[in-house]
Amino acid sequence: MNTTDTCRLAVLLSGTGSTLVNLADRIAGGDLPAEIAVAVSSRKKVLGLERAWERSIPTEILTRKAFTRDGRFDAEAYSTAMTALLEPFAPDLVVLAGFMTRLTEPLLSTYDVVNVHPALLPLFGGPGLYGHHVHEAVLAAGVKLTGATVHFADEKYDHGPIILQEAVEVDQDDTPDTLAAKVQAAERRIYPRAIALYAKGLLKREGHRVRILKESQQG
Ligand code: GAR
Repeated sequence: MNTTDTCRLAVLLSGTGSTLVNLADRIAGGDLPAEIAVAVSSRKKVLGLERAWERSIPTEILTRKAFTRDGRFDAEAYSTAMTALLEPFAPDLVVLAGFMTRLTEPLLSTYDVVNVHPALLPLFGGPGLYGHHVHEAVLAAGVKLTGATVHFADEKYDHGPIILQEAVEVDQDDTPDTLAAKVQAAERRIYPRAIALYAKGLLKREGHRVRILKESQQG
């Protein structure tokens, strides 16, 4: 992407779309130099689609059904179809926003993909650990700190080079709901910030690490 252009985002979701709303609000408020070129849902009839329609964001639906045979989901075939679906929208970055499907090649070598996770990875991530399950696991483990993580996505769930994290204290009276609210507030801060860094060309991947450049170091 030419760093003077607006960064075109493809936002992938499966649920309520509160992450999409936050990004759209940050863009509208001038805090995030980006535009949402398309929102793609892996589920029909989810609130996230309605929220995209309300904001005149183009939408597409790609369900897992056509890619599931005898109960086995073909992630490669799904990712191939997703890559083709996204092409006309020419995204610079694919943004996972509560998207509950693992992506593989050819999508991962075609686009940079970022994800937000409601814990301090590499703890409390992986298959089955999403939404409230994460906060329940955090409380059961008795840790005193949790938080939010933004990372580049790879073929594994909640894995890949970490871009930004924000810690959140776990209070002894926290419930999954109160913890979710605090962690979501952190997500709402760091996800737009990480995407803005990407849009400005300030993220440099070095193996499994991400270096954040100063504007003067921009490549
Ligand atoms: C996000 O807030 C994020 O914490 C979680 O899903 C939520 C989606 O909310 N993502 C994961 O757990 C990824 N493993 P939304 O559908 O309202 O945007």
